[in-house]
Amino acid sequence: MKTLVTYLSQTGNTKKVAEAIYGELSGEKEIKPISEVKDLGGYDLAFIGFPVMQFDIPPKVRSFLTENTKGKNIAVFMTHAVPEGSEAIQSWTGSVKQTVADANLLGIFECQGELAQHVIDMLLKAEDPQMKAFGEMGPSTKGQPDENRLKKARQFAKDVQAKMK
Ligand SMILES: Cc1cc2nc3c(=O)[nH]c(=O)nc-3n(C[C@H](O)[C@H](O)[C@H](O)COP(=O)(O)O)c2cc1C
Repeated sequence: MKTLVTYLSQTGNTKKVAEAIYGELSGEKEIKPISEVKDLGGYDLAFIGFPVMQFDIPPKVRSFLTENTKGKNIAVFMTHAVPEGSEAIQSWTGSVKQTVADANLLGIFECQGELAQHVIDMLLKAEDPQMKAFGEMGPSTKGQPDENRLKKARQFAKDVQAKMK
């Protein structure tokens, strides 16, 4: 079985989760940024990850999912600044399910990821009060994803791979 882990990551959080997943996988495997993946041909399973941006899937990742996941075994992982359990997350997982409706979706993993300082600085200067409020949340995200969250990501990898057997 050949498994791909691919991701978009601007400040490294989603990459950390990707590496945790990758480390746990058995069998033949590859890990690469989504910009280096042409399609999912040759893979039996793909883990696809991204940071939530502007309250949704980043457009580049959305088009990748739309164009490449039909009939494929996939699992999706995402990082976001809001704490786990926030109501908004349901709309993001809903958006994923809708986007990959023609794929065999084996699971979705999500966890908090630190807001980088330059992002906090930018958000605090924003006119939009929603964006500003985001910036104020910055310090509470420090250090995420932490070891506990990475442990959950590893378990997710194992659970998804077990579904393939
Ligand atoms: C332009 C921009 C928009 C963002 N929008 C959201 C958002 O809507 N909701 C959220 O929870 N986090 C948002 N974030 C925070 C990121 O999703 C979070 O920090 C993520 O872990 C970054 O992952 P990365 O390090 O892999 O790039 C945003 C970050 C940036 C830079």
